[in-house]
Amino acid sequence: MTFPSHRPRRLRSSAAMRRLVGETTLEPRHLVLPMFVADGLDQPRDITSMPGVVQHTRDSLRRAAAEAVDLGVGGLMLFGVPQESDKDGDGSIGVRPDGILNVALRDLAADLGDATVLMADTCLDEFTDHGHCGVLDRVGRVDNDATNRRYVELAVAQADSGAHVVSPSGMMDGQVAAIRDGLDAAGHTETAILAYAAKFASGFYGPFREAVASSLQGDRRTYQQDSGNIREAVREIELDLAEGADIVMVKPAMAYLDVVRAAAEISSVPVAAYQVSGEYSMISAAAERGWIDRQSVVTESLVSIRRAGADIVLTYWAAEAARWLS
Ligand code: PBG
Repeated sequence: MTFPSHRPRRLRSSAAMRRLVGETTLEPRHLVLPMFVADGLDQPRDITSMPGVVQHTRDSLRRAAAEAVDLGVGGLMLFGVPQESDKDGDGSIGVRPDGILNVALRDLAADLGDATVLMADTCLDEFTDHGHCGVLDRVGRVDNDATNRRYVELAVAQADSGAHVVSPSGMMDGQVAAIRDGLDAAGHTETAILAYAAKFASGFYGPFREAVASSLQGDRRTYQQDSGNIREAVREIELDLAEGADIVMVKPAMAYLDVVRAAAEISSVPVAAYQVSGEYSMISAAAERGWIDRQSVVTESLVSIRRAGADIVLTYWAAEAARWLS
């Protein structure tokens, strides 16, 4: 035969045709914006390794949150950065009602009500003087069950402060079940749990450690997963589903799209993926140098995460991308 009869290019012949046959959608509602709020700042502080991302003051957070919600983002994920002097061994400042994260949650709950989905990072690393995601035992290891008891207190404090969703990101065994029980016992039966179900020990978190002024020495390899393990990731996801997770998340995104796909195949609840700080920084740095086109590469990266099977994407570009998309 001289000419091919199968011509996929027919379906690429015009923008209208491509729109008609497009498979993967990307809408503002799919995007969740992670935001940092710091105690004791007079004005927002730039995070140098994440150009365009800042540690907010209470006021600048309120303005930026309202703007993102106006742009149609699906939700906001809040991280708190306390004063160095308020950090201690068991992260008390995360639980205290006057801790920056809880204060900021109350601000945003008052401003925004149910106009957005307010999510809180439910972890100890921002609040501990040693920088680990849990409390330590006598020999300095992260104590799983003692940490879970602390996570329950954190989650209840966050729900009390107005979080619609709590987000345990510390990879303790049984954290979802413990938090579900604790929330229910405190009357927060409507508060949802977004579980960081498969979270890998990743070099891509580097810039985040600056963003939250992390005190960590060493690494998180006794609780976060090794990058090569997908069977283990599936086990983690199954356990979180069994424990009552309302949303399961894979993190990071780009280097783990096969895990996102696996999660989408087995999950009975929505799947989220977190495009983390290092992914943001890499694309930003290359775009700043003019080596890649920022908007097209950001869009492509977000579409790829959706194509892999994520219903929800956490991305520092959420507000900006929402503007492009609307
Ligand atoms: C832990 C937490 C981390 C991130 C989100 N939650 C850091 C870590 O595990 O070291 C990373 C997010 C990012 O890199 O964008 N509370």
